[in-house]
Amino acid sequence: MKKILLAPSILSANFSILGKEIKNVLDAGADIIHFDVMDNHYVPNLTFGPMVLESIRKFNISCPIDVHIMAKPVDTLIPLFAKAGATFITIHPESTYHLNRTLDLIKDYGCKVGIALNPTSSIDVLDYIIEKLDLILVMSVDPGYPKQKFIFNVVKKISKIKKKIRLSKREIYVSVDGGVKMCHIYSLLKAGTDIFVMGSYIFRNSNYQFVIKKIREKINSFYIKK
Ligand code: DX5
Ligand code: ZN
Repeated sequence: MKKILLAPSILSANFSILGKEIKNVLDAGADIIHFDVMDNHYVPNLTFGPMVLESIRKFNISCPIDVHIMAKPVDTLIPLFAKAGATFITIHPESTYHLNRTLDLIKDYGCKVGIALNPTSSIDVLDYIIEKLDLILVMSVDPGYPKQKFIFNVVKKISKIKKKIRLSKREIYVSVDGGVKMCHIYSLLKAGTDIFVMGSYIFRNSNYQFVIKKIREKINSFYIKK
């Protein structure tokens, strides 16, 4: 059984003790940290930048970090986040005029390449860029805020994306982001999800060990049932 990865979105963490929050979710069994960058332009909200990422790395956090950039223009931010310690850099195709160039920039700076697709965005773009990708982040809410309602038709979209990945014969993670709760896990696994981004569902709970254990049990029970 391949390992399904859990990626808490720190958008819902307590920012006044961010380093500690990250350590706590990692100790509780999280695999990747999801770092949501918002610019009040591409999305109507404002979060954190490369300096915050750098301070997280200096706090001895060495796990993979997926920097999900919801900002436009995006190219100038890529070197900054790469130098600050990003593992994956995931961008939206609408945030750049020249997508090949932007994806190449991420790779040239030594990061893994991610593309984020909004709920209503077509998956056709993948036909032109799939050979450059390490991760496809399927948005299950319109980007901009935590705690939104999961849009269920993305489950079908994930199945279609998975078919394209199989045809490409490449190793590409499919990650789902936005409004994910326990009740969505089986459908998302069935569709082929590899990484679950979960923000408010994890951080609203005061006991991260407990909530992450419950999520893992749910995932494992899907494979036992099969
Ligand atoms: C939305 C962000 C998500 C979000 C996830 O724009 O990209 O990562 O914060 O948080 P929840 O799980 O609360 O939807
Ligand atoms: Zn995100």
